[in-house]
Amino acid sequence: MEIRPFGPDDVAEVDAWVDLTNATSSVDSPWNRPQTRAMAVGRFRHGWDGEVDTPYLARVGDAVVGSGAISTSEYDNLELAWIRVEVHPEHRRQGHGAVILEALLDEARRRGRTIIAAEAWDTAAAHAFADRHAFEKKLASINRRQTLADIDWPELDKRYDAALPHATDYVLERWSVPTPADRLDALAVMASAINDAPTDDLDYEDEVFTPERMAAYETAMAGRGERLFRVVARHVPSGALAAQTVVAVSEEDPTWGDQHDTSVTQAHRGHRLGLLLKADMLRWLREDEPRLRTVDTWNAESNDHMIGVNEILGYRVMGREWAYQRNLD
Ligand SMILES: CC(C)(COP(=O)(O)OP(=O)(O)OC[C@H]1O[C@@H](n2cnc3c(N)ncnc32)[C@H](O)[C@@H]1OP(=O)(O)O)[C@@H](O)C(=O)NCCC(=O)NCCS
Repeated sequence: MEIRPFGPDDVAEVDAWVDLTNATSSVDSPWNRPQTRAMAVGRFRHGWDGEVDTPYLARVGDAVVGSGAISTSEYDNLELAWIRVEVHPEHRRQGHGAVILEALLDEARRRGRTIIAAEAWDTAAAHAFADRHAFEKKLASINRRQTLADIDWPELDKRYDAALPHATDYVLERWSVPTPADRLDALAVMASAINDAPTDDLDYEDEVFTPERMAAYETAMAGRGERLFRVVARHVPSGALAAQTVVAVSEEDPTWGDQHDTSVTQAHRGHRLGLLLKADMLRWLREDEPRLRTVDTWNAESNDHMIGVNEILGYRVMGREWAYQRNLD
């Protein structure tokens, strides 16, 4: 087998990765949005916030049998590497997964990382493979999807109105991007509240949010052709940013949206800000993104509070993804 890293400019490899990813999704997660060349190029060029995954293609002769990816951050979790191993459904149980995994572990060692986290959809194959390679299940995340056509708007209005009296000290603001430089500090402080989201048994340090990283995220999303919508709640007496929710809508196909962070800072919890923010976001999207059909979201399975809000808004479960972890000798 030949395993080679590639980048966003390697068009043939990008196309092969897209085909492979769509083939594996059709088996393991058929509800996934099909990958396109533009999505893959954007992802490998910009990542989430400028730190990019290194993708690999595994070939046997002319056949693309699998892929791998590794990502490491320089902001936080400096001992950790995230990896992903995928084998084409027609080429499984031939040892390819194990070879790709070894290549990724070698790269993790080269980068000086000693904790390995791997993500995979909840399948028997993933569990058996993870088990075989001494990974343990640490965190279950649920992918939910909201279909905008199914939203009961009068009910949403009722919920919104019922929540408002709990938030009399707050105003909602639709925040425009890119965020001006003098507002990045406050945004970073607020965004770090996402560290309070459960990570269950995963050995995972708090993420570090700097003004530069907030700007890098917005730059990366713009580079990926994702239109960002951010609604914040401001605490009027203090002027402080209390909470935010962010949704990205794809320019390539604006029927697809993704929920990014929703977080309420500790001092401002218990005022129904999560519901208010998300309801206002839906109203904004209805006005500005009339073609939008669905929004996907991800939560730790144990995040009862956020899930409670999402269920009210009509989100339905699509699938469960596991984060496995092990240490590297
Ligand atoms: C999990 C996956 C990567 C395995 O790839 P693969 O090339 O079939 O794996 P290997 O041939 O190297 O299998 C190694 C061992 O894992 C276990 N295993 C893999 N798939 C299995 C399955 N479907 N049922 C039971 N055991 C399985 C077995 O112990 C196997 O050894 P064996 O064939 O000698 O019994 C592949 O099914 C896949 O791409 N799934 C979707 C992505 C994913 O879940 N990645 C897992 C990341 S942790």
